[in-house]
Amino acid sequence: MTGQTVVVAIDGPAGSGKSSVSRAIARRRSYGYLDTGAAYRAMAWLGISRGINPDDPDQVESLCASFSYRQETDPEHFRAWVAQTDVTAAIRTPEVSGRVSAYSAVPRVRAELIARFRALIAAETRDGIVVEGRDITTVVAPDATVRVLLTASPEARARRRAGQRGDAEVARVAAALAARDAKDSSVTSFLTAAPGVTVLDTSDLNFEQSVTALDALIEQTIRSTEEIA
Ligand code: DC
Repeated sequence: MTGQTVVVAIDGPAGSGKSSVSRAIARRRSYGYLDTGAAYRAMAWLGISRGINPDDPDQVESLCASFSYRQETDPEHFRAWVAQTDVTAAIRTPEVSGRVSAYSAVPRVRAELIARFRALIAAETRDGIVVEGRDITTVVAPDATVRVLLTASPEARARRRAGQRGDAEVARVAAALAARDAKDSSVTSFLTAAPGVTVLDTSDLNFEQSVTALDALIEQTIRSTEEIA
């Protein structure tokens, strides 16, 4: 590429493999990596630790105004901090996973984080950045170079999350994923592709095959963009 930063926007539901595939792509191409879900999780973590009621506009306003947040965009070393506290592990707990949707559904929270994501994308100094979430292709970066909706069947997603832990665990994880999708899709439409967004269904692909397929799609899109330019 010449000059322009390549922006790869990737949306998809929980368990689609979005985060691991996005990070692998960023590593392979030496791009930055922005996990936007991590910022929503950090906001929820802070809200929970302060006892904030996400339905109270005044409390949400003060939460957003004081949200001192930093996230590493190097795909090799993901870390996140709220003020001086390293929250990298804390934002992945079941408590945060279970309550994050209540925060990410608040328009004031979304506006705050979307502005910060756009600033991070604009500040990227590598050749490109992979940005993943639920509304990246549609709201955060609708002009991205490459726009992809990464999907997988509910069964495939539950099986990946449950690992080797048996049918009962797969059923439990499937129910938890479905509940979170239902909450999240009331504010962001990540289950169907917007016009111009390419769907990549990874249900029948393993991790390496998913990375290879997405990398080929990125390469092809960059080439056709360069031909038009
Ligand atoms: O991708 P994840 O599970 O880490 O995302 C955490 C939560 O944040 C998820 O429940 C939905 C929300 N989210 C969002 O609303 N918009 C984004 N761009 C990314 C995540």
